[in-house]
Amino acid sequence: MPDNGNEAIFEIDTLNDIGPATKSSLKEAGFRSIKDLVIRGPIDIAEATGIAIEKCILLCNRAREILEDIGVLDKPFTTANEIYEKRKLEYRISTGSKNLDELLDGGIETRAITELYGEYGTGKTQICHTLCVTVQQSKAEDNISRALYIDTENTFRPERIASIASARKIDPRVALENVIVAKAYNSSHQEVIIQESPNVINLHNIKIMIVDSIVSHYRAEFLGRSFLSERQQRINRLLHILLRIAETCKIAVVITNQIQSSPDAIFGDPNKATGGNVMAHTSTYRLYLKKAGKNRIARMVDSPYHLEREILFALNEQGIGDPQK
Ligand SMILES: Nc1ncnc2c1ncn2[C@@H]1O[C@H](COP(=O)(O)OP(=O)(O)OP(=O)(O)O)[C@@H](O)[C@H]1O
Ligand SMILES: [Mg+2]
Repeated sequence: MPDNGNEAIFEIDTLNDIGPATKSSLKEAGFRSIKDLVIRGPIDIAEATGIAIEKCILLCNRAREILEDIGVLDKPFTTANEIYEKRKLEYRISTGSKNLDELLDGGIETRAITELYGEYGTGKTQICHTLCVTVQQSKAEDNISRALYIDTENTFRPERIASIASARKIDPRVALENVIVAKAYNSSHQEVIIQESPNVINLHNIKIMIVDSIVSHYRAEFLGRSFLSERQQRINRLLHILLRIAETCKIAVVITNQIQSSPDAIFGDPNKATGGNVMAHTSTYRLYLKKAGKNRIARMVDSPYHLEREILFALNEQGIGDPQK
């Protein structure tokens, strides 16, 4: 059975081998679809519902098998060739810059996390705003593709979406209608928003979810060494939820990250992405942004298959684009 976009087939009620009490516990705790079960995983489900962990593991396995049967997730023991052919069909979202699209092998990949990090003013938020518009221009399917923007730094500006849309010859009112925004006031709120996002993603045909930025609340709230391990655990959990959302909802996830400077670095670049190893291991693609006069440099610093190299892009009225020759 293909994934035909009919969300009724994903409802918790379609799990016919569990009793009504378990179903209502799941629903009361906010689990609406079998995708939610796979996204959150057994430990989270047990904590949220009080259902025994053994039962949660069985539930998650059953939910995963259903998603494999309908082609949402890859079945285990698939040939590399099948995965290769499937990946060729997955669509990418243009960034608005030909150079940056080329660096990314065609644009922002769906079913993956792309991380943008760099100093203030390097264009992270500008890329995010541009993607909210370019996703609407993509020809993935008949329905209009929308963006979900999770704003943690209070830097989302509808005016900028409107001006980028106008410069790209899209009616600004239409463009603004197709961007769903959620402002996160603290790290717990950010986690709740992300946990609840699969429902919004399905309802509004979201094709890209942006979190700008992923770390700012954690950096502000978990101060000092004694809170470091809790901070990293929370970020790790959140990133894994994001990765599973990207895979099961077949969307692109773009996160921005801040940098920290090591004043003792004598050689090389003193700037490092925050979030440590947890962030470095979980992001699928990492782009480091730097200033280069009026333009900006994007460097692919980590990818499972791209070369480490850099390109130039520009910030302009269309959001981002290519430097004038
Ligand atoms: N309408 C516009 N046209 C061209 N450039 C713009 C426009 N609006 C903002 N910019 C430029 O974008 C830059 C700010 O970029 P952005 O907000 O993306 O930074 P950032 O990397 O998100 O920084 P931070 O870490 O502070 O969030 C500024 O240099 C500004 O001049
Ligand atoms: Mg920003």
